[in-house]
Amino acid sequence: MPKYRSLTSQRVDQLAPSGIRKFFDLLASIEGVISLGVGEPDFATPWHISEQAIFSLEKGNTRYTSNLGVPELRQELSRYLKDNYNLAYDPDGELLITVGVSEGLDLIMRAILDPGDEVIMPDPCYVSYNACVTLAGGTPVMVPTNQKNDFEVSAADIEARVTGKTKAILIGYPANPTGAVMPKDKLQQIAEVAQRHHLLVISDEIYAKLVYGVEHTCFATLPGMKESTVFLGGFSKAYAMTGWRIGYAASSRDIIAAMTKIHQYTIMCAPTMAQVAAIEALRTGEPSVLEMVEDYNRRRQVIVKGLNDIGLPCFEPRGAFYAFPSIKGTGMTSEEFAEKLLVEEKVAVVPGPAFGQCGEGYVRCCYATSLADIEEALSRMKRFVTRHKKG
Ligand SMILES: Cc1ncc(COP(=O)(O)O)c(C=O)c1O
Repeated sequence: MPKYRSLTSQRVDQLAPSGIRKFFDLLASIEGVISLGVGEPDFATPWHISEQAIFSLEKGNTRYTSNLGVPELRQELSRYLKDNYNLAYDPDGELLITVGVSEGLDLIMRAILDPGDEVIMPDPCYVSYNACVTLAGGTPVMVPTNQKNDFEVSAADIEARVTGKTKAILIGYPANPTGAVMPKDKLQQIAEVAQRHHLLVISDEIYAKLVYGVEHTCFATLPGMKESTVFLGGFSKAYAMTGWRIGYAASSRDIIAAMTKIHQYTIMCAPTMAQVAAIEALRTGEPSVLEMVEDYNRRRQVIVKGLNDIGLPCFEPRGAFYAFPSIKGTGMTSEEFAEKLLVEEKVAVVPGPAFGQCGEGYVRCCYATSLADIEEALSRMKRFVTRHKKG
């Protein structure tokens, strides 16, 4: 038999599949599972938003749009960013409408990285961060974070990892998987590191609207940082629009032009009907967002208290819709805990190491599900933890 070269690239061969997906294949084979797994709202998109897309389809609005996104959406987004953060982005050149923040992350990495360039990011972090950097030929450099420090990323820890190859710092807050919100003073310190070393800051703020009793600081608003920040935002979480696949990038003209070069060849434009829905979301979606946030907050309080009462210590997440309890007291690894909990009690959580090595000893519980399901999941988890108590 002749030996052929692998038909897939080494880069892809070496990439580990997402720890979340692997787990959910197992989940799909079991009936009656309560899922605290996938990170998406249980709400349907507010009807008035969906309806605008339907009207637009009825009018035959089914063609490509400008590569940058429909002008009306970019104008509305520019107004929204001004009203919410007092940030002025020119809709013609400083904003790009993307297929979710997912595309924004991929584009920015491909736009800035040459082989071997480094991007510094927190551990644990959203599963795509590492993969997007690797696929773009770069090297992810992880900064450990821990429960003792509320999973905040320290500027000193970032600075200690800056080398001649560092291109950017990638942060995401409110954070997936921990729910941590970065306070303004800590962000300011990160901005100073970026300025000292002439680095770009890529700030994934997809959960910006989902905060509970604290303020979200938009990174680009920090003094002198607008031009060197790539602000990634989206509609998936706050407006319950995960399936619409729509997001945006806001940055300097040069960065947006570089991202657009890739976007125009690979994507062409974000889905037209989703862009129409996004316009409506920006114009009239705020009351629905506030209602959902209130609901998430109630669920957050129940789950955090419940987990702590069971003996799974959980720091108080102030954003997103995740709780990240420690399972170290059970003596199991995160993977063992999640697998056994799924098989024995039919509750799905995600093992912490899916988000990086520092996630070992933790599991991610998404509370964007009904209160009744959260309460039932907690009682099953209590039974499970009691049964497996050491000693
Ligand atoms: C931190 C973070 N960034 C980006 C994304 C991807 O979002 P989108 O649906 O806009 O692609 C997610 C989805 O879970 C996320 O948690």
